[in-house]
Amino acid sequence: MATRRFDEPEIPKDALRDETVAVVGYGNQGRAHALNLRDSGVRVIVGARPGSASGEEARASGFEVGTAAEVTKRADLIMLTTPDVPMAEIFREGVRPNLRAGQMVLFAHGFNVHFGRIPLVEGVDFGLVSPKGPGAGLRRLYEQGSGLPGLVAVAQDATGRAWDRVLAYAWGCGCRKGLYETSFQEETESDLFGEQAVLCGGIPELVKAGFETLVAAGFSPEVAYFECLHETKLIVDLMVERGLAAMRLAISDTAEWGGFVTGPSVINEESRAAMRETLKRIQSGEFAKDWIAECENGQPNLKKYRKVEAELSVEQVGAPIRESMRG
Ligand SMILES: NC(=O)c1ccc[n+]([C@@H]2O[C@H](COP(=O)([O-])OP(=O)(O)OC[C@H]3O[C@@H](n4cnc5c(N)ncnc54)[C@H](OP(=O)(O)O)[C@@H]3O)[C@@H](O)[C@H]2O)c1
Repeated sequence: MATRRFDEPEIPKDALRDETVAVVGYGNQGRAHALNLRDSGVRVIVGARPGSASGEEARASGFEVGTAAEVTKRADLIMLTTPDVPMAEIFREGVRPNLRAGQMVLFAHGFNVHFGRIPLVEGVDFGLVSPKGPGAGLRRLYEQGSGLPGLVAVAQDATGRAWDRVLAYAWGCGCRKGLYETSFQEETESDLFGEQAVLCGGIPELVKAGFETLVAAGFSPEVAYFECLHETKLIVDLMVERGLAAMRLAISDTAEWGGFVTGPSVINEESRAAMRETLKRIQSGEFAKDWIAECENGQPNLKKYRKVEAELSVEQVGAPIRESMRG
């Protein structure tokens, strides 16, 4: 079933005119939300832990900054943009004890609500505004007078104004290229799946495997880098801007033919079975359980993965190439 899309004429842009928004967490998303909302005429304050470096940055940008507890007392809407795992404790300790009926709690990702780590609170609106892109892009496009698409959802409409608030927030924070209705469940599961199977799992593994195959066969690492990493951007840009068919028209017919006949042998039935397994692990809550345990343990495996990847040949070869392109 096609999802509902809200376009500019349907958005009650002034729904937050008399409200204060607290953005708790001034990182990738939080910084862009806070700056864009403020530039859209919304009253914004920022929540940060004591001694927080990003809290200092928010203060230097002219925001009033307080703890999660302090800003929850002062705000009408509270957007939580800290990392997902510590967010449950920040909510429990700082936000929840200070919530009152009529407020709204917002999320940029449904993880904590969907997996039951943040329970809905009676009398309070709960909504989701998830820009489809990283915060830096959200801010840059907003400054250029453009924006990103966004996913929006309401898990609880206690005030009867939850949808107006969600839509006005989304518009104000820079989601100005279509707002698509979703649910906390759909956003959470599809977001985790997309990042694991395609964006942050599948694509980097494909790049590494392609690079390593060429280098192992005696090709120069620089040539392998250009073929398997550098040129991904050109193809991805074409797919995003024009779609698959038009991307194929923009490449040589040799590349088009080779892609059609070889692609399905690389991403094959085994890969699709792995994708179905990935989705199952997400939907059963197994992935969330493992990730929370990893965080509570100090992220030892995440640190190991980062170190191993930083030492890969594709990284060593790529650094000077990227540097020379910047010059
Ligand atoms: N990144 C994306 O592209 C993206 C896209 C869509 C949705 N989202 C969602 O947006 C939310 C935020 O993600 P993000 O990537 O923007 O987060 P992030 O940049 O990692 O968040 C960093 C911010 O959170 C604060 N913080 C970190 N740990 C904290 C703790 N234990 N207590 C209090 N504050 C803490 C940091 O403060 P300090 O300076 O004190 O460390 C900093 O202000 C998540 O729900 C995520 O799923 C992210």
